[in-house]
Amino acid sequence: MKRTKVINLLQQRPGDEVLVKGWVRTKRGIKNVTFIALNDGSTINNIQIVCDTAVFDESLLKQITTGACIAVKGELAASLGSGQAVEIQARDIEVLGTADPDIYPLQKKGHSMEFLREIAHLRPRTNTFGAVLRIRHAMAFAIHKFFNDKGFVYLHTPIITSSDCEGAGEMFHVTTLPLENVPKNEDGSVNFEEDFFGRQTSLTVSGQLEGELGAMALGDIYTFGPTFRAENSNTPRHLAEFWMIEPEMAFYEIEDNMDLAEEFIKYLIRYALDNCKDDLNFLNNMIDKELISRLESVVNTKFVRLSYTEGIDILLKSGANFEFPVGWGIDLQSEHERYLVEKHFKKPVILTNYPKEIKAFYMKQNEDGKTVRAMDVLFPKIGEIIGGSQREESLEKLEQRIAELGMDHSNLWWYIDTRRFGTAPHSGFGLGFERLLLFVTGMANIRDVIPFPRTPKNAEF
Ligand code: 4AD
Ligand code: MG
Repeated sequence: MKRTKVINLLQQRPGDEVLVKGWVRTKRGIKNVTFIALNDGSTINNIQIVCDTAVFDESLLKQITTGACIAVKGELAASLGSGQAVEIQARDIEVLGTADPDIYPLQKKGHSMEFLREIAHLRPRTNTFGAVLRIRHAMAFAIHKFFNDKGFVYLHTPIITSSDCEGAGEMFHVTTLPLENVPKNEDGSVNFEEDFFGRQTSLTVSGQLEGELGAMALGDIYTFGPTFRAENSNTPRHLAEFWMIEPEMAFYEIEDNMDLAEEFIKYLIRYALDNCKDDLNFLNNMIDKELISRLESVVNTKFVRLSYTEGIDILLKSGANFEFPVGWGIDLQSEHERYLVEKHFKKPVILTNYPKEIKAFYMKQNEDGKTVRAMDVLFPKIGEIIGGSQREESLEKLEQRIAELGMDHSNLWWYIDTRRFGTAPHSGFGLGFERLLLFVTGMANIRDVIPFPRTPKNAEF
């Protein structure tokens, strides 16, 4: 007999003999009947198993405790109890795996998020993490669907790289050199020629540079993969390993880039509202009472677009008492971004034309000589959710900026070549996948929207 998933059983008409397999959430008994709530991860909802206590061995029923894995055959019957249309009248139960109640850490009571992080190997079995992980899957699927429907090519960019895209020097080294006896050059520096790749390599911070090469051949591409930042940021919005979606489009100016970013993010939120109802309702009840109304308001709102300079003016005139002082030229902190979005405009904001000093080398320089065509999308509760720009397509200006910043030309010759051979205006952006998930799930900490978070001093699991 084939197993049926709970999500399908709950929609099936009563009468059939069925087989279900899953993990016990709760067991309770009255008189001669035992009720088991069984979950198999296919939905947030459990199926109720009803056992006639007289029919089953006491020793078998004793093994059915929270966390145990069981297989149940029986008749799908109309449920007499409230809360579910159908239940299973058990005929045959097999215990596939027990879970000793004295040591199984996930008991009925609600656990703190901090505690659940310590048992990240088991937390997917909770309602909250089940919901978050199903939504995470749905968003990944919707991302591919959005771009596929628009004719974008999914380009796989390398994880191991020898260039620092964002130029922030926050890279994890990749090496097979023996740490206890590193080969040195005469001047004392590390001899990377003896390393695996014959040069210094790192984990990528962004797939953009290779993405641009793709756009200059295929037109519209996107990447979607893990990226790594060795920044020592212990905040609820930073991970050392996070996933990023980076579309890159030939012939797009900054305005086209903003249009796409706004359409993309609204599409994803709408997709979640339409396809993840049970999980969103659960999170709305348990985690954040304003979640669904916030999601609906964003899909129905035109994002504000304003320049960095205008944003700074608003912050200066706000009279607010910021921890980090405001002035033209500062890199905006989360408190500044959230002031603009949550207090001033009360809607998402796309900020453009940032000072070139605080942005990466590849951004298109404006005529004023001071600013670049950057665009950051700022969201309520999150701050920056997307960072992007129009790219500098002029060979001369790009090389000049690389020289100004003292960057190593020899690692970038292939990137610069795109400006030498058939250069074209182009733009792109990066959406932080976990920042999106923070917004869509209402979870408060980025460590709780990825199965196994990587943060400073933490790489367990
Ligand atoms: O603004 P960032 O650094 O931009 C880039 O990497 C560009 N190369 C993207 C592009 O234009 N193709 O990062 C983009 C987004 C941020 O807006 C944020 O959502 C997310 O990536 N992000 C992080 N998410 C979690 N943890 C971190 N440490 C993050 N750093 C950036
Ligand atoms: Mg950024």
